[in-house]
Amino acid sequence: SVVPILLSGGSGTRLWPVSRRSFPKQFAALTGDHSLFQASALRLSGPRYGAPLVLTGADFRFIVTEQLAGVGIVPGAVLIEPAPRNTAPAVLAAALHLAAADPDVMMLVAPSDHVVPDAEAFGRAVDRGIAPARAGRIVTFGIHPTRPETGYGWLELGGESGAAPDDPAPLRRFVEKPDAAAAEAMLADGRFLWNAGIFLFTARTMIEAFERHAPDFIAPVRASLQAARPDLGFLRLDPEAWDSLPDLSIDYAVMEKAGNLSVVRFADHWSDLGGWDAIWREAQLDAPAWRGVVADARSTAIDCDDVLLRSDDENLQVVGIGLRDTMVVATGDAVLVADMNRAQDVRQAVTALKARG
Ligand code: GDD
Ligand code: MG
Repeated sequence: SVVPILLSGGSGTRLWPVSRRSFPKQFAALTGDHSLFQASALRLSGPRYGAPLVLTGADFRFIVTEQLAGVGIVPGAVLIEPAPRNTAPAVLAAALHLAAADPDVMMLVAPSDHVVPDAEAFGRAVDRGIAPARAGRIVTFGIHPTRPETGYGWLELGGESGAAPDDPAPLRRFVEKPDAAAAEAMLADGRFLWNAGIFLFTARTMIEAFERHAPDFIAPVRASLQAARPDLGFLRLDPEAWDSLPDLSIDYAVMEKAGNLSVVRFADHWSDLGGWDAIWREAQLDAPAWRGVVADARSTAIDCDDVLLRSDDENLQVVGIGLRDTMVVATGDAVLVADMNRAQDVRQAVTALKARG
């Protein structure tokens, strides 16, 4: 079976003020009843999958176990990272941890900030990736791109014709978070897909990829795992070696460099709820919004176009008049007012607030 690796240590700063340091976006019920983390865990449960391995930070460890229990999922293990170092160290720690028991174990790395409504369709895409992953490939999942998104990785397909669209195809190139001009060019080109941020591979394949492309990670991650301390059912990685690791995502550390990538196309609905603009877009798919207005029950829009109005405080009403391309998100102690096209810059606000203490 396939072991889901649930990454849930991100800080989700672009969804401030609902996403907070102590309670990041993946644990909040942003849409629907379950949190994004719960939805990801549920999506990757059932006959295809083994018990998930969760990687997160110390602050979130009880949220993780509580939320998994809430949906009836028992994790195989919960690894606690001493400090957030992005996804490269986390993925390597997972691979080394599982390889100790079985180097050929099949791993499915999954972010916890995604919306993928059709779990069965996604499961069939995973099935199609098993053979190439067994053969030593790192399998990515490709989404048909609809805008020149600079917040994603892009996958360049090889030129071979004749392959059925459902077949896994070798990847020519992986481009993480391009600038706007490059994203426009890739969208126009037609041979590119978005990287869903989900990867399938064996532990052995990933460890070899690190040995080849990011060897400096191996000794510290291994040391940190060897000195790890069991604590109330969690496995706490040792901070000493871990602290020396660079902050780098798996996309930059391995995917952009590896020559053994394949892609399986995923044609069903997929979305990364990375910013408020994505939440706004997603809401319109559920219920087409008149003049692009997405407003919750506490919010009122008068003569507005393309706005998101949201209040997470029952004592706070939000009213927008004559607004365009604007998002207003209010909580009990903070209000965000921003241009819809500046959704990625919300993380700057968080940095600025942090600096003020
Ligand atoms: N455990 C752990 N530790 N998890 C982390 C850490 C960490 O230090 N940093 C981030 N994560 C988790 C996040 O919570 C999220 O679930 C996942 O790893 C991916 O991190 P993001 O920060 O959301 O990445 P991204 O969205 O900018 O980019 C990735 O996903 C895109 C699609 O959603 C890349 O893979 C892109 O290429 C891809 O297009
Ligand atoms: Mg993301």
